[in-house]
Amino acid sequence: MNESVSQIYVVDDDISVREALARLIKSAGLSVKTFATAQEILAALQNEVPSCLVLDMLLPDINGLELQRQLATRDIQIPIIFLTGHGDIPMSVRAMKAGALNFLTKPFQDEYFLETIRNAITQSTRKEVATFGDIIGQSRACRRVIHQIEIVAPTDATVMILGETGTGKELIAQEIHRRSCRREKPLVRVNCTSIPKDLFESELFGHVRGAFTGAIKDRVGRFEAAAGGTLFLDEIGEISLGLQSKLLRVLQEKCYERVGEDRTRHADVRIVAATNRDLQKEVAAGRFREDLFYRLNVFPIKVAPLKERKEDIPLLATHFVELLAKELGCPKPRLTQAGIETLQGYDWPGNIRELRNIIERAVILSQGGALNFDLPVNGSSVDQIILEPRDGDQAEPEFLTESEMQRRERKNLFTVLQKTGWKIKGTDGAAELLGMNPSTLIYRIEKLGLKRPAPDCLASY
Ligand SMILES: Nc1ncnc2c1ncn2[C@@H]1O[C@H](COP(=O)(O)OP(=O)(O)O)[C@@H](O)[C@H]1O
Ligand SMILES: [Mg+2]
Repeated sequence: MNESVSQIYVVDDDISVREALARLIKSAGLSVKTFATAQEILAALQNEVPSCLVLDMLLPDINGLELQRQLATRDIQIPIIFLTGHGDIPMSVRAMKAGALNFLTKPFQDEYFLETIRNAITQSTRKEVATFGDIIGQSRACRRVIHQIEIVAPTDATVMILGETGTGKELIAQEIHRRSCRREKPLVRVNCTSIPKDLFESELFGHVRGAFTGAIKDRVGRFEAAAGGTLFLDEIGEISLGLQSKLLRVLQEKCYERVGEDRTRHADVRIVAATNRDLQKEVAAGRFREDLFYRLNVFPIKVAPLKERKEDIPLLATHFVELLAKELGCPKPRLTQAGIETLQGYDWPGNIRELRNIIERAVILSQGGALNFDLPVNGSSVDQIILEPRDGDQAEPEFLTESEMQRRERKNLFTVLQKTGWKIKGTDGAAELLGMNPSTLIYRIEKLGLKRPAPDCLASY
Protein backbone atom coordinates (compact mmCIF):
# COMPACT_ATOMS: atom_id res chain seq x y z
CA MET A 1 0.00 0.00 0.00
CA ASN A 2 1.15 3.51 -0.69
CA GLU A 3 3.05 5.37 2.01
CA SER A 4 0.69 8.29 1.91
CA VAL A 5 -2.33 6.23 2.98
CA SER A 6 -3.20 7.30 6.49
CA GLN A 7 -2.01 4.90 9.13
CA ILE A 8 -4.27 4.28 12.14
CA TYR A 9 -3.13 2.62 15.36
CA VAL A 10 -5.70 0.78 17.47
CA VAL A 11 -4.98 -0.08 21.11
CA ASP A 12 -7.43 -2.36 22.86
CA ASP A 13 -6.82 -5.35 25.09
CA ASP A 14 -9.85 -7.18 23.74
CA ILE A 15 -8.78 -9.11 20.65
CA SER A 16 -12.28 -9.28 19.16
CA VAL A 17 -12.68 -5.49 19.43
CA ARG A 18 -9.21 -5.00 17.93
CA GLU A 19 -9.93 -7.20 14.99
CA ALA A 20 -13.37 -5.80 14.31
CA LEU A 21 -12.03 -2.24 14.35
CA ALA A 22 -9.09 -3.19 12.14
CA ARG A 23 -11.46 -4.69 9.58
CA LEU A 24 -13.64 -1.63 9.64
CA ILE A 25 -10.70 0.73 9.20
CA LYS A 26 -9.32 -1.32 6.32
CA SER A 27 -12.73 -1.31 4.66
CA ALA A 28 -12.39 2.48 4.46
CA GLY A 29 -9.16 2.10 2.49
CA LEU A 30 -6.98 3.11 5.45
CA SER A 31 -4.02 1.28 6.85
CA VAL A 32 -4.13 -0.09 10.39
CA LYS A 33 -1.91 -1.63 13.08
CA THR A 34 -3.24 -3.09 16.30
CA PHE A 35 -1.76 -3.25 19.80
CA ALA A 36 -2.91 -4.89 23.01
CA THR A 37 -1.14 -2.77 25.60
CA ALA A 38 0.07 0.78 26.22
CA GLN A 39 3.65 -0.46 26.46
CA GLU A 40 3.48 -1.95 22.97
CA ILE A 41 2.22 1.26 21.49
CA LEU A 42 4.78 3.41 23.27
CA ALA A 43 7.51 1.22 21.78
CA ALA A 44 5.98 1.45 18.28
CA LEU A 45 5.65 5.22 18.47
CA GLN A 46 9.39 5.55 18.77
CA ASN A 47 9.72 4.50 15.15
CA GLU A 48 6.66 5.91 13.48
CA VAL A 49 3.87 8.34 14.24
CA PRO A 50 0.46 7.38 12.81
CA SER A 51 -2.20 9.82 11.64
CA CYS A 52 -4.51 8.88 14.46
CA LEU A 53 -4.68 6.69 17.56
CA VAL A 54 -7.78 4.78 18.61
CA LEU A 55 -7.40 4.12 22.29
CA ASP A 56 -9.40 2.07 24.72
CA MET A 57 -9.77 4.13 27.86
CA LEU A 58 -9.25 1.15 30.14
CA LEU A 59 -6.09 -0.70 29.24
CA PRO A 60 -4.56 -3.38 31.45
CA ASP A 61 -1.19 -1.68 32.05
CA ILE A 62 -1.72 2.07 31.95
CA ASN A 63 -5.07 3.75 31.46
CA GLY A 64 -5.73 5.83 28.36
CA LEU A 65 -5.46 9.08 30.27
CA GLU A 66 -2.01 8.27 31.57
CA LEU A 67 -0.93 7.24 28.06
CA GLN A 68 -2.19 10.55 26.72
CA ARG A 69 -0.10 12.34 29.36
CA GLN A 70 3.01 10.33 28.50
CA LEU A 71 2.63 11.14 24.80
CA ALA A 72 2.34 14.81 25.64
CA THR A 73 5.53 14.76 27.73
CA ARG A 74 7.34 13.08 24.83
CA ASP A 75 5.99 15.76 22.51
CA ILE A 76 4.20 13.22 20.34
CA GLN A 77 1.17 14.96 18.87
CA ILE A 78 -1.43 12.67 17.39
CA PRO A 79 -5.17 13.02 17.44
CA ILE A 80 -6.54 10.40 19.85
CA ILE A 81 -9.97 8.85 19.65
CA PHE A 82 -10.90 7.47 23.05
CA LEU A 83 -13.21 4.51 23.28
CA THR A 84 -15.12 4.57 26.51
CA GLY A 85 -17.80 2.53 28.22
CA HIS A 86 -20.77 4.19 29.90
CA GLY A 87 -19.05 4.05 33.28
CA ASP A 88 -16.00 6.08 32.24
CA ILE A 89 -17.60 9.52 32.05
CA PRO A 90 -15.47 11.23 34.75
CA MET A 91 -12.34 9.98 33.04
CA SER A 92 -13.59 11.27 29.70
CA VAL A 93 -14.05 14.69 31.19
CA ARG A 94 -10.50 14.69 32.47
CA ALA A 95 -9.18 13.53 29.10
CA MET A 96 -11.09 16.27 27.40
CA LYS A 97 -9.53 18.84 29.72
CA ALA A 98 -6.13 17.43 28.74
CA GLY A 99 -6.87 18.22 25.11
CA ALA A 100 -8.52 15.07 23.76
CA LEU A 101 -11.13 15.88 21.16
CA ASN A 102 -12.76 12.65 20.26
CA PHE A 103 -14.76 10.20 22.31
CA LEU A 104 -16.82 7.29 21.28
CA THR A 105 -18.99 5.53 23.77
CA LYS A 106 -19.32 1.84 23.07
CA PRO A 107 -21.28 0.51 21.31
CA PHE A 108 -21.09 2.87 18.35
CA GLN A 109 -22.11 2.72 14.73
CA ASP A 110 -19.50 1.80 12.12
CA GLU A 111 -20.18 4.84 9.99
CA TYR A 112 -19.90 7.18 12.97
CA PHE A 113 -16.59 5.59 13.96
CA LEU A 114 -15.16 6.05 10.46
CA GLU A 115 -16.34 9.61 10.30
CA THR A 116 -14.61 10.37 13.60
CA ILE A 117 -11.40 8.84 12.23
CA ARG A 118 -11.62 10.86 9.04
CA ASN A 119 -12.06 14.05 11.06
CA ALA A 120 -9.11 13.16 13.25
CA ILE A 121 -6.91 12.55 10.20
CA THR A 122 -7.87 15.93 8.79
CA GLN A 123 -6.83 17.52 12.10
CA SER A 124 -3.50 15.75 11.99
CA THR A 125 -2.71 16.63 8.38
CA ARG A 126 -3.64 20.24 9.05
CA LYS A 127 -1.17 20.32 11.90
CA GLU A 128 1.56 18.74 9.80
CA VAL A 129 1.07 20.98 6.79
CA ALA A 130 4.08 23.14 6.53
CA THR A 131 3.06 26.35 4.89
CA PHE A 132 5.79 28.87 4.88
CA GLY A 133 4.52 31.90 3.06
CA ASP A 134 3.38 30.37 -0.22
CA ILE A 135 5.66 27.36 0.08
CA ILE A 136 3.84 24.14 0.83
CA GLY A 137 5.43 20.86 1.83
CA GLN A 138 6.33 18.69 4.76
CA SER A 139 9.00 16.45 3.28
CA ARG A 140 12.41 16.51 4.87
CA ALA A 141 13.78 18.19 1.72
CA CYS A 142 11.17 20.92 1.89
CA ARG A 143 11.67 21.51 5.60
CA ARG A 144 15.40 21.85 5.03
CA VAL A 145 14.85 24.52 2.38
CA ILE A 146 12.47 26.38 4.70
CA HIS A 147 15.05 26.25 7.46
CA GLN A 148 17.71 27.64 5.12
CA ILE A 149 15.41 30.47 4.06
CA GLU A 150 14.79 31.32 7.71
CA ILE A 151 18.50 31.51 8.37
CA VAL A 152 19.60 33.44 5.31
CA ALA A 153 16.67 35.78 4.65
CA PRO A 154 17.42 38.36 7.37
CA THR A 155 21.08 38.63 6.34
CA ASP A 156 22.22 40.47 3.23
CA ALA A 157 24.09 37.44 1.91
CA THR A 158 23.96 36.51 -1.76
CA VAL A 159 21.86 33.39 -2.29
CA MET A 160 22.13 30.86 -5.08
CA ILE A 161 19.06 28.67 -5.63
CA LEU A 162 19.77 25.46 -7.50
CA GLY A 163 17.13 23.11 -8.79
CA GLU A 164 15.33 21.73 -11.82
CA THR A 165 12.76 23.81 -13.66
CA GLY A 166 9.45 24.08 -11.82
CA THR A 167 10.76 23.13 -8.37
CA GLY A 168 9.81 26.48 -6.85
CA LYS A 169 13.01 28.52 -7.14
CA GLU A 170 11.18 31.73 -7.84
CA LEU A 171 8.87 31.13 -4.91
CA ILE A 172 11.92 30.72 -2.69
CA ALA A 173 13.42 33.96 -3.96
CA GLN A 174 10.16 35.74 -3.14
CA GLU A 175 10.11 34.28 0.35
CA ILE A 176 13.70 35.34 0.99
CA HIS A 177 12.83 38.87 -0.02
CA ARG A 178 9.66 38.91 2.06
CA ARG A 179 11.54 37.86 5.16
CA SER A 180 14.44 40.28 4.69
CA CYS A 181 14.79 43.81 5.99
CA ARG A 182 14.51 44.92 2.35
CA ARG A 183 10.89 43.77 2.14
CA GLU A 184 9.47 47.29 1.87
CA LYS A 185 11.59 47.89 -1.23
CA PRO A 186 11.12 46.17 -4.60
CA LEU A 187 11.99 42.62 -5.58
CA VAL A 188 13.02 42.86 -9.23
CA ARG A 189 13.33 39.74 -11.37
CA VAL A 190 15.62 39.52 -14.35
CA ASN A 191 15.04 36.50 -16.52
CA CYS A 192 18.47 36.08 -18.03
CA THR A 193 17.19 33.86 -20.86
CA SER A 194 14.63 36.29 -22.18
CA ILE A 195 16.86 39.33 -22.67
CA PRO A 196 18.54 39.67 -26.06
CA LYS A 197 22.32 39.59 -25.69
CA ASP A 198 22.97 43.08 -27.02
CA LEU A 199 20.35 44.62 -24.74
CA PHE A 200 21.48 42.86 -21.59
CA GLU A 201 23.80 45.58 -20.34
CA SER A 202 21.24 48.30 -20.86
CA GLU A 203 18.58 46.13 -19.25
CA LEU A 204 20.66 45.67 -16.11
CA PHE A 205 22.29 49.07 -15.83
CA GLY A 206 20.02 51.37 -17.85
CA HIS A 207 21.03 53.76 -20.62
CA VAL A 208 20.91 57.40 -21.59
CA ARG A 209 19.20 58.82 -24.64
CA GLY A 210 21.23 58.29 -27.79
CA ALA A 211 23.52 55.66 -26.24
CA PHE A 212 22.68 53.34 -29.14
CA THR A 213 20.26 53.20 -32.02
CA GLY A 214 16.79 52.93 -30.58
CA ALA A 215 17.70 54.53 -27.24
CA ILE A 216 15.21 57.32 -27.66
CA LYS A 217 15.08 58.30 -24.00
CA ASP A 218 16.88 57.68 -20.71
CA ARG A 219 16.03 54.37 -19.16
CA VAL A 220 16.45 53.03 -15.64
CA GLY A 221 18.09 49.60 -15.41
CA ARG A 222 17.10 46.72 -13.13
CA PHE A 223 19.86 47.44 -10.62
CA GLU A 224 18.48 50.91 -10.17
CA ALA A 225 14.86 49.74 -10.09
CA ALA A 226 15.74 47.32 -7.30
CA ALA A 227 17.60 49.95 -5.24
CA GLY A 228 17.29 49.14 -1.54
CA GLY A 229 15.61 45.84 -2.41
CA THR A 230 16.46 42.48 -3.97
CA LEU A 231 17.55 41.68 -7.51
CA PHE A 232 16.59 38.16 -8.55
CA LEU A 233 18.81 36.94 -11.38
CA ASP A 234 16.81 34.00 -12.71
CA GLU A 235 18.42 31.43 -15.04
CA ILE A 236 21.84 32.91 -14.32
CA GLY A 237 23.52 29.91 -16.00
CA GLU A 238 22.40 31.18 -19.39
CA ILE A 239 24.38 34.42 -19.67
CA SER A 240 27.34 34.72 -21.99
CA LEU A 241 30.93 35.00 -20.76
CA GLY A 242 31.11 38.65 -21.84
CA LEU A 243 28.11 39.57 -19.73
CA GLN A 244 29.38 37.47 -16.86
CA SER A 245 32.40 39.80 -16.52
CA LYS A 246 30.14 42.86 -16.50
CA LEU A 247 28.03 41.30 -13.80
CA LEU A 248 31.12 40.31 -11.83
CA ARG A 249 32.31 43.88 -11.78
CA VAL A 250 29.11 45.25 -10.32
CA LEU A 251 29.02 42.50 -7.72
CA GLN A 252 32.63 43.15 -6.72
CA GLU A 253 32.70 46.91 -6.81
CA LYS A 254 29.05 47.54 -6.03
CA CYS A 255 28.89 50.24 -8.66
CA TYR A 256 27.88 50.56 -12.31
CA GLU A 257 27.25 53.10 -15.05
CA ARG A 258 24.25 53.48 -17.32
CA VAL A 259 25.15 52.68 -20.92
CA GLY A 260 26.37 55.91 -22.56
CA GLU A 261 27.00 57.74 -19.30
CA ASP A 262 30.15 58.31 -17.22
CA ARG A 263 28.47 58.86 -13.90
CA THR A 264 29.07 55.97 -11.55
CA ARG A 265 26.12 54.84 -9.48
CA HIS A 266 26.14 52.82 -6.29
CA ALA A 267 24.43 49.44 -6.46
CA ASP A 268 22.42 48.86 -3.30
CA VAL A 269 20.83 45.49 -4.00
CA ARG A 270 20.81 42.09 -2.42
CA ILE A 271 21.43 39.43 -5.04
CA VAL A 272 19.48 36.19 -5.25
CA ALA A 273 20.34 34.05 -8.27
CA ALA A 274 18.81 30.82 -9.57
CA THR A 275 19.67 28.23 -12.15
CA ASN A 276 18.68 24.76 -13.25
CA ARG A 277 22.18 24.08 -14.51
CA ASP A 278 24.98 22.43 -12.62
CA LEU A 279 27.16 25.52 -12.40
CA GLN A 280 30.21 23.64 -11.21
CA LYS A 281 30.08 21.60 -14.40
CA GLU A 282 29.62 24.79 -16.39
CA VAL A 283 32.73 26.19 -14.70
CA ALA A 284 34.69 23.03 -15.47
CA ALA A 285 33.57 23.24 -19.10
CA GLY A 286 34.74 26.86 -19.29
CA ARG A 287 31.23 28.20 -19.86
CA PHE A 288 30.87 29.95 -16.53
CA ARG A 289 33.44 32.19 -14.85
CA GLU A 290 34.79 30.61 -11.73
CA ASP A 291 35.18 33.94 -9.93
CA LEU A 292 31.56 34.83 -10.65
CA PHE A 293 30.49 31.40 -9.47
CA TYR A 294 32.18 31.95 -6.09
CA ARG A 295 30.70 35.44 -5.81
CA LEU A 296 27.22 34.02 -6.29
CA ASN A 297 27.55 30.75 -4.47
CA VAL A 298 27.84 32.31 -1.01
CA PHE A 299 24.75 30.59 0.37
CA PRO A 300 23.52 27.82 -1.93
CA ILE A 301 20.01 26.41 -1.49
CA LYS A 302 19.38 23.12 -3.29
CA VAL A 303 15.77 22.32 -4.14
CA ALA A 304 14.96 18.65 -4.64
CA PRO A 305 12.98 17.56 -7.70
CA LEU A 306 9.39 16.53 -6.95
CA LYS A 307 10.07 12.84 -7.64
CA GLU A 308 12.38 12.81 -4.62
CA ARG A 309 9.73 14.22 -2.32
CA LYS A 310 6.55 12.50 -3.42
CA GLU A 311 5.21 12.71 0.13
CA ASP A 312 4.51 16.39 -0.63
CA ILE A 313 2.19 15.47 -3.51
CA PRO A 314 -1.04 15.02 -1.46
CA LEU A 315 -0.62 18.45 0.14
CA LEU A 316 0.39 20.19 -3.06
CA ALA A 317 -2.40 18.51 -5.02
CA THR A 318 -5.02 19.45 -2.41
CA HIS A 319 -3.74 23.01 -2.43
CA PHE A 320 -3.80 23.30 -6.23
CA VAL A 321 -7.27 21.73 -6.52
CA GLU A 322 -8.68 24.34 -4.15
CA LEU A 323 -6.75 27.20 -5.65
CA LEU A 324 -7.52 26.35 -9.27
CA ALA A 325 -11.19 25.58 -8.72
CA LYS A 326 -11.47 29.05 -7.18
CA GLU A 327 -9.39 30.74 -9.86
CA LEU A 328 -11.20 29.04 -12.71
CA GLY A 329 -14.61 29.48 -11.10
CA CYS A 330 -15.27 25.72 -11.39
CA PRO A 331 -17.22 23.70 -8.83
CA LYS A 332 -14.74 22.09 -6.44
CA PRO A 333 -13.94 18.59 -7.67
CA ARG A 334 -13.04 15.57 -5.54
CA LEU A 335 -9.46 14.44 -5.18
CA THR A 336 -9.71 10.73 -4.47
CA GLN A 337 -7.14 8.45 -2.85
CA ALA A 338 -6.82 6.73 -6.23
CA GLY A 339 -6.12 10.11 -7.82
CA ILE A 340 -3.38 10.85 -5.32
CA GLU A 341 -1.83 7.44 -5.91
CA THR A 342 -1.86 8.08 -9.66
CA LEU A 343 -0.08 11.39 -9.11
CA GLN A 344 2.47 9.75 -6.84
CA GLY A 345 3.16 7.08 -9.44
CA TYR A 346 4.49 9.59 -11.93
CA ASP A 347 7.99 11.07 -12.04
CA TRP A 348 7.18 14.74 -12.74
CA PRO A 349 10.00 15.86 -15.04
CA GLY A 350 8.39 19.33 -15.00
CA ASN A 351 8.11 19.22 -11.20
CA ILE A 352 5.57 21.34 -9.34
CA ARG A 353 4.78 23.48 -12.36
CA GLU A 354 3.79 20.35 -14.27
CA LEU A 355 1.72 19.13 -11.31
CA ARG A 356 -0.14 22.42 -11.28
CA ASN A 357 -0.81 22.23 -15.03
CA ILE A 358 -2.05 18.64 -14.89
CA ILE A 359 -4.36 19.52 -12.01
CA GLU A 360 -5.63 22.57 -13.84
CA ARG A 361 -6.61 20.44 -16.81
CA ALA A 362 -8.24 17.84 -14.57
CA VAL A 363 -10.21 20.50 -12.65
CA ILE A 364 -11.60 21.91 -15.89
CA LEU A 365 -12.61 18.48 -17.15
CA SER A 366 -14.02 17.18 -13.85
CA GLN A 367 -17.07 19.45 -13.74
CA GLY A 368 -17.23 19.07 -9.99
CA GLY A 369 -16.93 15.25 -9.97
CA ALA A 370 -13.92 13.08 -9.18
CA LEU A 371 -10.63 14.20 -10.67
CA ASN A 372 -9.09 12.01 -13.34
CA PHE A 373 -5.48 12.58 -14.25
CA ASP A 374 -4.24 12.15 -17.73
CA LEU A 375 -0.53 11.69 -17.23
CA PRO A 376 2.13 11.26 -19.87
CA VAL A 377 3.76 7.85 -19.76
CA ASN A 378 7.05 8.16 -17.91
CA GLY A 379 10.04 8.50 -20.17
CA SER A 380 8.36 7.41 -23.37
CA SER A 381 5.44 8.23 -25.55
CA VAL A 382 2.17 6.35 -25.27
CA ASP A 383 2.70 4.78 -28.71
CA GLN A 384 5.99 3.29 -27.64
CA ILE A 385 4.40 1.70 -24.61
CA ILE A 386 1.71 0.10 -26.72
CA LEU A 387 4.10 -1.17 -29.35
CA GLU A 388 7.02 -2.30 -27.30
CA PRO A 389 7.27 -4.95 -24.61
CA ARG A 390 7.89 -3.58 -21.15
CA ASP A 391 11.25 -3.96 -19.51
CA GLY A 392 11.38 -6.65 -16.92
CA ASP A 393 12.06 -10.34 -16.56
CA GLN A 394 9.15 -11.28 -18.71
CA ALA A 395 8.15 -9.57 -21.90
CA GLU A 396 4.44 -9.01 -22.45
CA PRO A 397 2.96 -11.52 -24.90
CA GLU A 398 1.98 -10.11 -28.26
CA PHE A 399 -1.70 -10.70 -27.53
CA LEU A 400 -3.85 -12.06 -24.72
CA THR A 401 -6.26 -14.93 -24.94
CA GLU A 402 -9.82 -14.54 -23.71
CA SER A 403 -9.10 -16.64 -20.63
CA GLU A 404 -5.93 -14.68 -19.83
CA MET A 405 -7.86 -11.42 -20.12
CA GLN A 406 -10.51 -12.78 -17.77
CA ARG A 407 -7.87 -13.96 -15.34
CA ARG A 408 -6.29 -10.54 -15.29
CA GLU A 409 -9.59 -8.79 -14.86
CA ARG A 410 -10.55 -11.10 -11.97
CA LYS A 411 -7.21 -10.45 -10.33
CA ASN A 412 -7.50 -6.72 -10.78
CA LEU A 413 -11.05 -6.50 -9.45
CA PHE A 414 -10.25 -8.79 -6.56
CA THR A 415 -7.21 -6.69 -5.54
CA VAL A 416 -9.27 -3.53 -5.52
CA LEU A 417 -12.17 -5.14 -3.68
CA GLN A 418 -9.82 -6.46 -1.04
CA LYS A 419 -8.37 -3.00 -0.65
CA THR A 420 -11.76 -1.43 -0.05
CA GLY A 421 -13.07 -4.28 2.10
CA TRP A 422 -15.59 -5.04 -0.68
CA LYS A 423 -17.12 -1.62 -0.42
CA ILE A 424 -18.31 -0.77 -3.92
CA LYS A 425 -19.92 2.64 -3.84
CA GLY A 426 -18.81 5.95 -2.35
CA THR A 427 -15.61 7.94 -2.46
CA ASP A 428 -13.64 5.14 -0.83
CA GLY A 429 -15.36 2.36 -2.76
CA ALA A 430 -13.94 0.04 -5.42
CA ALA A 431 -15.89 1.64 -8.28
CA GLU A 432 -14.26 5.00 -7.55
CA LEU A 433 -10.78 3.45 -7.40
CA LEU A 434 -11.34 1.70 -10.70
CA GLY A 435 -12.86 4.79 -12.30
CA MET A 436 -15.95 2.74 -13.10
CA ASN A 437 -19.67 3.07 -12.64
CA PRO A 438 -20.80 1.07 -9.51
CA SER A 439 -23.53 -0.77 -11.44
CA THR A 440 -21.00 -1.76 -14.12
CA LEU A 441 -18.70 -3.07 -11.41
CA ILE A 442 -21.48 -5.10 -9.77
CA TYR A 443 -22.35 -6.55 -13.17
CA ARG A 444 -18.74 -7.58 -13.79
CA ILE A 445 -18.34 -9.08 -10.32
CA GLU A 446 -21.37 -11.22 -10.96
CA LYS A 447 -20.28 -12.13 -14.48
CA LEU A 448 -16.84 -13.23 -13.30
CA GLY A 449 -18.33 -15.02 -10.30
CA LEU A 450 -16.18 -13.17 -7.78
CA LYS A 451 -17.12 -13.94 -4.17
CA ARG A 452 -16.16 -12.18 -0.98
CA PRO A 453 -14.00 -14.48 1.18
CA ALA A 454 -15.28 -15.43 4.65
CA PRO A 455 -14.49 -12.82 7.36
CA ASP A 456 -11.84 -14.91 9.14
CA CYS A 457 -9.89 -15.13 5.90
CA LEU A 458 -10.18 -11.37 5.50
CA ALA A 459 -8.77 -10.72 8.94
CA SER A 460 -5.47 -12.20 7.90
CA TYR A 461 -4.85 -9.74 5.05
N1 LIG B 1 6.51 24.29 -2.43
C1 LIG B 1 5.57 24.85 -3.20
N2 LIG B 1 4.35 25.09 -2.70
C2 LIG B 1 3.39 25.62 -3.47
N3 LIG B 1 3.54 25.96 -4.75
C3 LIG B 1 4.74 25.75 -5.31
C4 LIG B 1 5.82 25.20 -4.56
N4 LIG B 1 6.90 25.13 -5.37
C5 LIG B 1 6.52 25.60 -6.57
N5 LIG B 1 5.21 25.98 -6.54
C6 LIG B 1 4.45 26.52 -7.70
O1 LIG B 1 4.91 25.83 -8.85
C7 LIG B 1 5.08 26.71 -9.95
C8 LIG B 1 6.53 26.73 -10.40
O2 LIG B 1 7.36 27.32 -9.41
P1 LIG B 1 8.56 28.31 -9.75
O3 LIG B 1 8.96 28.99 -8.48
O4 LIG B 1 8.21 29.21 -10.91
O5 LIG B 1 9.66 27.25 -10.19
P2 LIG B 1 11.09 27.45 -10.84
O6 LIG B 1 11.44 28.92 -10.70
O7 LIG B 1 12.00 26.56 -10.07
O8 LIG B 1 10.99 27.03 -12.27
C9 LIG B 1 4.59 28.06 -9.48
O9 LIG B 1 3.22 28.17 -9.82
C10 LIG B 1 4.74 27.98 -7.97
O10 LIG B 1 3.83 28.83 -7.32
MG1 LIG C 1 11.84 29.86 -12.63
